[in-house]
Amino acid sequence: MNWQRTRSFFPVTRELVYLNHAGVAPISTRVDEALRRYADEATRMGAFQYPTAFDAEVERVRGRAAALLHAEPDEVAFVKNTTEGLGLIAAGLDWQPGDQVLTCDLEYPSNVYPWWSLRDRGVETVMLRSRDGRLSLEHVDEALKNPRTRLLALSSVEYGSGFRNDLEALGALCRERGVLFCVDAIQSLGCLPLDPGAWGVDFLAADGHKWLCSLEGCGIFYCARSMLDRLVPRIVGWRSVTDNTDYDRYHMDLQPSAGRFEEGTPNTAGIFGLGAAIDLVLELGIDAIAERVLALTDQLVAGLTAVGADLRSPRAPGETSGIVSFSLGDEPAKRTVTRLRRAKVFTVARRDGVRASPHYYNTEAELDRLLEAL
Ligand SMILES: Cc1ncc(COP(=O)(O)O)c(C=O)c1O
Repeated sequence: MNWQRTRSFFPVTRELVYLNHAGVAPISTRVDEALRRYADEATRMGAFQYPTAFDAEVERVRGRAAALLHAEPDEVAFVKNTTEGLGLIAAGLDWQPGDQVLTCDLEYPSNVYPWWSLRDRGVETVMLRSRDGRLSLEHVDEALKNPRTRLLALSSVEYGSGFRNDLEALGALCRERGVLFCVDAIQSLGCLPLDPGAWGVDFLAADGHKWLCSLEGCGIFYCARSMLDRLVPRIVGWRSVTDNTDYDRYHMDLQPSAGRFEEGTPNTAGIFGLGAAIDLVLELGIDAIAERVLALTDQLVAGLTAVGADLRSPRAPGETSGIVSFSLGDEPAKRTVTRLRRAKVFTVARRDGVRASPHYYNTEAELDRLLEAL
């Protein structure tokens, strides 16, 4: 793969060394073009060609999103963000007082508060303790033995440390114990392979503005087909039902697909952008992207070690991701980030570490620029 060529999709490279794909990524020229296509249609024709110009693209993108997840289109719904997807699960399961949700202390708040919000329904959230930025399988396994555990909710990759959870092994443990498995996949989607069906993941949610390099506010929610009837949509609207363009006949026959979770007009412009972003990932190949990103992070880690930085990210095989977190002696992370920013190297401070998250179009030379700026 000629990764150098992919830089032309990202004009941001002319201005910045952009190492914040775990935060908010720049969009590619492909996404920009798709948004212009949407705007052109909406400006010239309004809704005159809605079925062919807009509905058709929404369904095409659903198919592409499903392809990226090795899923079926009827298992995919569009959501406004990861949190909305996780909220659908929290709101829609038949919780019983005494039920437990397992998550861990490395999680971003979007995978904590939806479960805490169930407290008044008698559901307890157990925050598993991490050690050195990682959550051990043994620890999860032990906790899953509690018969009150109903659901395990984890991120595919932890946002601060970059620790990659072994979703396949976790899914197998959940299956063994009859526990539902829910994944916040925003730190993987567009960077690392995901196969929820094969890994025993029941639900997955991710927005597009990180590794997919798409827009904020338009993401995907995966609901395994076997779960469609167990997850009750709590916000139901005109689009949740079958024959939903027959507005004059009220009925509550929910769509037989995950489309039932899309209650009203979708974010069509966002879906245009998301589609172009997913197309690019499928074109380059998610396995090739993962290999490239992991190679760049390996190089970064080697360089950071050479300059004496303290590495905070677990780096054992299978644990690595696109996120590298480090600190420099006693210097507060925010100060390091500010120094890097002055050199036009964009990282962020998270959990007391400097978080660098390169994508496939970054270069070895750009990583050297970070090291020099340090
Ligand atoms: C692990 C993780 N989940 C979720 C989010 C954001 O969630 P949302 O898409 O709801 O804004 C972030 C953003 O940093 C994140 O790192």
